[in-house]
Amino acid sequence: MTKKVATLEKVSKTYGKDDLIVKALDNVNLEIYKGDYLAVMGASGSGKSTAMNIIGCLDRPSQGVYKLNGIPVENLSDDELADLRNQKLGFVFQQFHLLSDATALENVLLPMIYAGIDPLEREERAKNALDKVGLSERVNNRPNQLSGGQQQRVAIARAIINNPAILLADEPTGALDSKTTEDVLDLFDKLHESGITIVLVTHEDEVASRAKKIARFKDGKIIELKIKN
Ligand SMILES: Nc1ncnc2c1ncn2[C@@H]1O[C@H](COP(=O)(O)OP(=O)(O)OP(=O)(O)O)[C@@H](O)[C@H]1O
Ligand SMILES: [Mg+2]
Repeated sequence: MTKKVATLEKVSKTYGKDDLIVKALDNVNLEIYKGDYLAVMGASGSGKSTAMNIIGCLDRPSQGVYKLNGIPVENLSDDELADLRNQKLGFVFQQFHLLSDATALENVLLPMIYAGIDPLEREERAKNALDKVGLSERVNNRPNQLSGGQQQRVAIARAIINNPAILLADEPTGALDSKTTEDVLDLFDKLHESGITIVLVTHEDEVASRAKKIARFKDGKIIELKIKN
């Protein structure tokens, strides 16, 4: 049986209070299995990023239970959540979020420094990861010396460096042209084939078509879960 990596059980998330209350997520149930490649779709404001923030332990549910590797996150302290993010989750964002003063190599090293990995090992792992994303010639370049697609590949290398249980990507191709989008999607395909679990938010059908499951959000609810065979 495939292992469950994460579950949202009747998760709701509300912002604000009284008559200004916004229900960003409304009683959402979702199961993420090891090896899944899930695309999250839906109109602007439908709750996609809110769901990603909960899956990524950047935020906690207002109601309901979120479990990562079977453990409910609600009882964890902020420090414990930060450790969990570092060790179990990888993040990729539309705007890359790389450190501008650091080289590609240094950006990829960072999560391993937080994780306390031995310097020699982390250097070797970072170089391997940059090789995996096709950037072995660019290890010493800073972000402003790299194209958008190359910057995103550095961000992807950084996201997978601690072998995360889930790679989370919120509009990872939103700032890229169509050719570069294809390259980044090919890379996600390769990572998925190597066994990495991917959850990706996108507005684009072309991007979602690469995924094996599509969850469609509307008004904070999942209105459709499509599973391809
Ligand atoms: N920090 C916040 N405070 C108040 N309301 C919020 C906050 N974050 C999100 N919301 C509201 O929650 C709802 C869902 O937002 P969310 O960011 O999850 O949408 P989204 O599907 O990611 O949209 P987009 O496609 O535009 O990124 C929206 O109505 C939004 O305005
Ligand atoms: Mg969003």
